Amino acid sequence: MKSFFLLLGLVAIGFSAPAQTRSSTISRESDVPPYSLPDPLVRQTGQPIRNAREWRDLRRPELLELFADQEYGRTLVGRPSSLRFIVRESIPNARGGRATRLRVGILFEGREDGRQMELLVYLPNQVKGPVPVFLGLNFDGNYATAVDPDLPIPHHWVMAKSGDPATDHQPVAASRGVHQHQFAYAYALEHGYGIATAAYGEIEPDAPGHWREGPRGLGPEPGPHDWGCIGAWAWGLSRAMDYLESNPRVDARRVAVMGFSRLGKAAVWAGAQDERFAMVISQDSGAGGVALSKRLFGEDIAHLTGSLGHWFAPSFAQYANHEEALPIDQHELIALIAPRPILILSATEDSWSDPKGEFLGGQGADPVYRLLKTDGLAAKTWPSPSELIPSSIGYFLRPGSHDVTLEDWQAMITFADHRARVSHGRFYKSP
Ligand code: GCU
Repeated sequence: MKSFFLLLGLVAIGFSAPAQTRSSTISRESDVPPYSLPDPLVRQTGQPIRNAREWRDLRRPELLELFADQEYGRTLVGRPSSLRFIVRESIPNARGGRATRLRVGILFEGREDGRQMELLVYLPNQVKGPVPVFLGLNFDGNYATAVDPDLPIPHHWVMAKSGDPATDHQPVAASRGVHQHQFAYAYALEHGYGIATAAYGEIEPDAPGHWREGPRGLGPEPGPHDWGCIGAWAWGLSRAMDYLESNPRVDARRVAVMGFSRLGKAAVWAGAQDERFAMVISQDSGAGGVALSKRLFGEDIAHLTGSLGHWFAPSFAQYANHEEALPIDQHELIALIAPRPILILSATEDSWSDPKGEFLGGQGADPVYRLLKTDGLAAKTWPSPSELIPSSIGYFLRPGSHDVTLEDWQAMITFADHRARVSHGRFYKSP
């Protein structure tokens, strides 16, 4: 009993001691200290993984458990038996007849007055059979991703600050369409792809202390190794997938989960856990996404687990300024997606997200992708800006800042088309 309390005490100290921040953020390559990465093909016992079956049966579950235990927290709730979809609106001739637009209520508790999210879906009308879909969360409400004047202004928590404390984090009319450049509906539809999106703040607000309001509130109070907001948002992506699977116009075997920045972290974690996602697109996901943690450049764990600590399991904070002690790194998160393709989008001016560290995350996953008989990452060195690497681990460095632009969408669709061409119409060849 005594040792139990001693352990509790240590745990409390370890997880709650305020992390000292480094004197400055490293933003020059020559200042990056040496580091070493864990080998994704060596088990915690030191035993090497020799074939695809050992990866699948031994190492993959071990890594998934480590990422849950040490970083994002365990996902304590699965698909609720009460889950229900309500098609609130279906417009067959949206966008001048080019698209079908749906607004679907995904009711986590099966009731309109319970926890829920609304999925906005656009499907291209010119394609006869089931279509591939890009699915991703958005920051400021579905109506902020499109210009359509008839999309309702929602009532859930949003990221946007109005400037007036009385209406802060409430959706306002002025946000209509503000993020339309990040959701290239016209371009995707023209190329035969659908897009589905939901507001992350409707799943759970992005602030500490709100766990009861979202899916985490459907389970027990989260402990030190249990899910934070990223886990909750990733859960929401899986519930959106539940709906997409039920719509015969969607090719459920070609749903790519995507996300920008913190929503990219959630998309990669969703893709690692939920193998129904046949492709993952990281849009500048940075630290806690696809960028290596042990490579100190840009944002570090102390920053992530400080004011953004509600995104992760409390246990992650023990690695603030102790990245070397972390038993995993983000290349192994990418490896959990193998053999399904991942496209890593970076931006040249986004040094906070460490674009080179994002590429190196992909490179570190290459041995796993190759063990699973894919082409891994074709580039051996960090590619030049605007050069798309369309191998199973894809990479594209866009000139510009932290954002998602049409150039990113062009890379995404070229990548998705290419992966389908080399995989008999699917995104990857099933092993
Ligand atoms: C902050 C945070 C990043 C995150 C980004 C975003 O910059 O430090 O980790 O990716 O916000 O989500 O916009």
